[in-house]
Amino acid sequence: MKQIDIIEYLPTIIEELKKGILVNTKNGDKTNSMTIAWGQIGIEWGKMFFTTYIRHGRFTHEQIEATKEFTVSVPLERTPEVAKAIGYIGSRSGREIDKLSDMNLSLLEGKEVKSPAIKELPLTLECKVIYSQEQNIDNIPQEIKDSCYPQDVPSDNPMANKDYHTVYYGEIVNAYILEESDFAEVGVNNGTVVNAESGNKSPKALWITLLSILLLLGIGSFVYNKMNKPQTYRTIVREEMSSVYSSTGLVNDSRVQNFVNKNPEILNRVAITEIRESFSENNSVKTKNVAITLRNKTDKPINDLEVVINVLDKKGNVIEDVDDEVKTLAPQTDYTFNLPIKNDKGVNNGVNEGVNWELSEIKD
Ligand SMILES: Cc1cc2nc3c(=O)[nH]c(=O)nc-3n(C[C@H](O)[C@H](O)[C@H](O)COP(=O)(O)O)c2cc1C
Repeated sequence: MKQIDIIEYLPTIIEELKKGILVNTKNGDKTNSMTIAWGQIGIEWGKMFFTTYIRHGRFTHEQIEATKEFTVSVPLERTPEVAKAIGYIGSRSGREIDKLSDMNLSLLEGKEVKSPAIKELPLTLECKVIYSQEQNIDNIPQEIKDSCYPQDVPSDNPMANKDYHTVYYGEIVNAYILEESDFAEVGVNNGTVVNAESGNKSPKALWITLLSILLLLGIGSFVYNKMNKPQTYRTIVREEMSSVYSSTGLVNDSRVQNFVNKNPEILNRVAITEIRESFSENNSVKTKNVAITLRNKTDKPINDLEVVINVLDKKGNVIEDVDDEVKTLAPQTDYTFNLPIKNDKGVNNGVNEGVNWELSEIKD
């Protein structure tokens, strides 16, 4: 693992936080992660903190209350697998399930804390909670109460919007980027926390492991070459993220956060119930397909309902708008707006590297 200077990595951490990163906890045998898009890095009492905002009903809240520690995992590459894991972990509670092994993530026990580091999201901050604070509800502006705490989704739902947040100040006691070699000795462990020291093997065992890997690679490439016929036409459709939301606004999804803050009124009439992303490639034209499902919550039809998204470059500048509309959305029904982003705009060198977008308008 490579120790890092946090200040050097601040832009990366904040940029990734906007899209969703992970807070991980371990209490006894129970390891869990949740997705966060709110947080801060800063200095107080001469110490450096990662400050995280956790709603009361989250299982993570229980874990941090019990252990007073957590780790933060930041991806350095948002592959479809990583994006899928972040979506899954942010839309289910770990109270009854093991989200980390469901997503086949490889874990390593922290050095200064028990909470794990995650190979697939290698930038890791180990944090010890030395202070926490309940939000003072009376000081929260009404506009934010309406958009972030509308009180219609109960605490036991991962999309709960009823509970307020506890602010946990985690002193950053260690910061590093995991490397492949950290896992060479312990192997891939699919959701089980492994301690690097306890995984030490003898030199003989290491040689046997190395030779077995080489043998398997040889067999694998032989079989692959036999099977892989040349392709002239290829279509990839890969689900990157699918999260179901039932609240009046996807306030926790960074791609709709500005929209919710800008124009919450329309969300009294429509609910954003789902956002799906997939990739397709057809004759070398790559497309990221964004599908946003809205529900007409009212008892009247809504005419000429239109959804607009802004496509952003890496610096967050708007490059273009993509829109889609429906003539009439009947009462209490869903409609999925399809918003394809093609790679012919030179966005981020192609859609497979991830196109950033955010919801710009819903209008009728
Ligand atoms: C992109 C994204 C960002 C989120 N940010 C936060 C956050 O900052 N604070 C929070 O309490 N919940 C946040 N959530 C919701 C939790 O990740 C979600 O409720 C999760 O299921 C909680 O898991 P747990 O019950 O296992 O702790 C976010 C979800 C998503 C998808």
